[in-house]
Amino acid sequence: MTTPSIELKPSSHPLSDAERDAILASPGFGRHFTDHMVVIKWTEGRGWHDAELVPYAPLSIDPANMTLHYAQEIFEGLKAYRHPDGSVALFRPEANARRFQASARRLAMPELPVDLFVAACDAIVRQDEAWVPAHGGEESLYLRPFMIASEVGLGVRPASEYLFLVIASPAGAYFPGGVKPVSIWLSEDRVRAVPGGMGDAKTGGNYAASLLAQAEAAAKGCDQVAYLDAVEHTWVEELGGMNLYFVYEDRIVTPTLTGSLLAGITRDSLLKLAGDLGYTSEEGRVSIDQWQADSESGALKEVFACGTAAVITPVGTVKSARGEWQQSGGEPGEVTLKLRKALLDIQTGKAADAHGWTHPVA
Ligand code: PLP
Ligand code: COI
Repeated sequence: MTTPSIELKPSSHPLSDAERDAILASPGFGRHFTDHMVVIKWTEGRGWHDAELVPYAPLSIDPANMTLHYAQEIFEGLKAYRHPDGSVALFRPEANARRFQASARRLAMPELPVDLFVAACDAIVRQDEAWVPAHGGEESLYLRPFMIASEVGLGVRPASEYLFLVIASPAGAYFPGGVKPVSIWLSEDRVRAVPGGMGDAKTGGNYAASLLAQAEAAAKGCDQVAYLDAVEHTWVEELGGMNLYFVYEDRIVTPTLTGSLLAGITRDSLLKLAGDLGYTSEEGRVSIDQWQADSESGALKEVFACGTAAVITPVGTVKSARGEWQQSGGEPGEVTLKLRKALLDIQTGKAADAHGWTHPVA
């Protein structure tokens, strides 16, 4: 089977410059979508076919579509940034493509070739380049590649037809407070993922599993939930949509990938970037008791969350059934801010990219 090329069928009625500029002045997160989307079909026996860039539009879905019932769905999130010379680059799209393949394997879905995933991202960014916010801030064009089963039927089995799509949305800060520390509710009873489950796949079910705890966190005045491992309820894993980092005097630690948390691309980039900045960065286990005790003793200097949408966001207050404590006096920590700047400088093309992470598009 050959990899199809993407046929361009652009919109005859894109938003006017004035309408688009009004959106770009205050994009928020995930509220507005560009003029186009990419759609690629997969059919058993035929493989990937009919790859098209078309005007953004609703999908027509049969009520018995298998995704609606059994959640055979995966997605990705990556960003295109405007560089100082006006060009546009994606950050590590091949890493997202590989993770998308891993998610597909876990959900018994067909794997999209890495080059087709990247070509689809490139196509929408090129077509909707005017939607990439200006250089200067941390605004970006957020891409949401995803795959759903498109077969109709109520039998529980892997579907024989799928749709891969990429949509794009201009993005400001994920948290309205920007770089203001977020508060965390530490969930000691509800879990997000279990060993042998789907925690390391980027699939909608994991996010559905997180919504009730997220609502409980909001009711307690917290922005996000931190999850513990599902067996011992002891080991810190991640937030609902971000990985965690713990900053000690002599080292920076992020929870080891055990299979029940997502292998974040930001997390991976920071393991390397922290080393570039002279810090010792490592994967390890952090227990909830250790988090609390080390915060209270002052040994744990800073905690931050990281992800594509959230970039790097400091953790301020932590609340749990066992009590409440604060990280670095509730202020953004020095190491957190240094890493945040180093990462954003590479993503936005302000700093040299020694790792080959930026992927020029337009
Ligand atoms: N963990 C979860 C559950 C996520 O949804 C995300 C966001 O994509 C992350 C971690 C961070 O991953 P990445 O840095 O690849 O965006
Ligand atoms: C991302 O960071 O890209 C995600 O998918 C996380 C989600 C909370 C928006």
